[in-house]
Amino acid sequence: MDRVRSGVDGLDQMLSGGFPKGGTYALLGFSGTGKSILGIQYIYKGAVDYDEPGVYILIEEDKDRFISNMAGFGWDLKSLEESEKISIIPYSKSLLGDIEASFDKGMNSDNPERAQRMREMLTVDSLYRQIAECVQKIGAKRVVIDSMTIVTMMTENQIMGRMQITWLIDKLRGLGLTTLITLEEGISYWRDIPFLCDGTIYLMLKEKEGIFARGLVIEKMRGTDHDTGMRPLKMDSPGGMIVYPDELVMSSPKH
Ligand SMILES: Nc1ncnc2c1ncn2[C@@H]1O[C@H](COP(=O)(O)OP(=O)(O)OP(=O)(O)O)[C@@H](O)[C@H]1O
Ligand SMILES: [Mg+2]
Repeated sequence: MDRVRSGVDGLDQMLSGGFPKGGTYALLGFSGTGKSILGIQYIYKGAVDYDEPGVYILIEEDKDRFISNMAGFGWDLKSLEESEKISIIPYSKSLLGDIEASFDKGMNSDNPERAQRMREMLTVDSLYRQIAECVQKIGAKRVVIDSMTIVTMMTENQIMGRMQITWLIDKLRGLGLTTLITLEEGISYWRDIPFLCDGTIYLMLKEKEGIFARGLVIEKMRGTDHDTGMRPLKMDSPGGMIVYPDELVMSSPKH
C-alpha cells in the first residue's frame, strides 16, 4: 500500500507508515486542540520534505493572520506559495468578497439574499472546482479543508449532506489526492462525517493535575493496522507538532 507521510513526528509510526494514499481523513476535535496546526504541517512538510505540493482551503480564518500565526513554528508559508509549492485559498473571503463591507451594505445575517449567496457558494461542487484548479496549476497531491463544518451546515438536510460529502471524497480520490478535513466537535452534523471518511484522528485536551494535556488517538484508519493509544502531543516553536507514540496522555510524566 502506498503511504503519504503526515509530516508529524510520531504520528507516522502510529499510522504504520503514513496515511493510506488517496483517502480522506477527518481531524476531529474541540476548539484549540490542534486541528489546523496538524493540517498546515501536513501541507508544509509535504511540500518541503516530500516534494508533494498541497492545497489548504481556509474556510473561515483570515489568510494573513493564519500565515503569521504559523510563522511561529518557523514555517515560511508565503514564499512556499510564491514558488507554487503550496496554495492557501481563503475560501469564504475569495467567494464572498469583503464580509465587513457586505455588512455595511445591510447584508446582515437575516438577509435572505446573503444567506442564499453563501448557500450557493459553500458547496461541494465549488470546493471541488477550486481544488481541481490547484491540481492543474501546482500539481497538488495533498489537500486540507479547514473546516468542513460550515459546508455541512449549508446543505438542505442531513441525507443530502451525507451524499455530497461522499461525492466529494470520491472525486478527490479520483484526482489522486490524499485529503484531511477538519471537523469541529459538538457542532451539528460533525458526527456523521467520520463515518464517511477513510479514517478519523481525534485531537483532545485532557485535564491532568490542573493542566490540560494535549493528546490524539487514531479512532479509525481503513485498510491498515494502527495504534489505538491516546498519545501525548506538543507544539514546539519552532518545529511544530510532535506526537509521542510510546507514551499515554494520562500517564506521561514529561509531556
Ligand atoms: N506558535 C505556537 N507555539 C506553541 N503553541 C501554539 C502556537 N500557536 C498556537 N499554539 C497552540 O495551538 C492552539 C491552536 O491550535 P489550532 O489552531 O490548530 O486549533 P484548532 O483545533 O484548529 O482550533 P479551532 O477549531 O478553534 O480552529 C492554540 O490555542 C495554542 O495553544
Ligand atoms: Mg482551526
